[in-house]
Amino acid sequence: MDIDWVGSVRLFLHVISATVWVGGQLVLAGLVPVLRAKDPALPKAAANAFNRIAWPAYWVLVATGIWNVAAEQAEAPTGWNAVLAVKVALVALSGVAAFLHTRARTTTGLAVWGALSGFAAIAAVYVGILLAG
Ligand code: HEM
Repeated sequence: MDIDWVGSVRLFLHVISATVWVGGQLVLAGLVPVLRAKDPALPKAAANAFNRIAWPAYWVLVATGIWNVAAEQAEAPTGWNAVLAVKVALVALSGVAAFLHTRARTTTGLAVWGALSGFAAIAAVYVGILLAG
């Protein structure tokens, strides 16, 4: 069996970073009500701690994503570039919405930007699996 070691490390870094960015947002959303009930200041402290690992994971995703494109585009099937364009748009939306969520000063702003970041990240996972084929 011919193992693509470099390719497996590339995808491993991409997928493990996706578990932090996407899975982390979902887990945090589930924890916030419990934390808030214990101490109204806890959700912000937990979110700040999450941001310290989430943003490095986001940039590893972007870097390994570009590496994925470099590795896969040449042999990609018809329509792959169009799917990739949707993926990049979702990733940009997820990042910008997450940034605006950290800057939001109203409960509505927090909720809308937070939800948009999460949904765009989840959609990016699905489109990523489409790209991987
Ligand atoms: C929120 C950010 C992102 C998430 C959650 C994400 C998630 C994923 C997932 C789950 C896969 C499937 C892996 C597999 O099935 O083996 C994947 C594959 C892929 N992603 Fe991403 N990704 C993100 C950002 C990016 C970016 C920014 C790019 C391009 C610039 C990109 C390009 C790709 C490509 C080309 C593949 C296919 C890899 C292959 O066939 O080997 N991704 N992504």
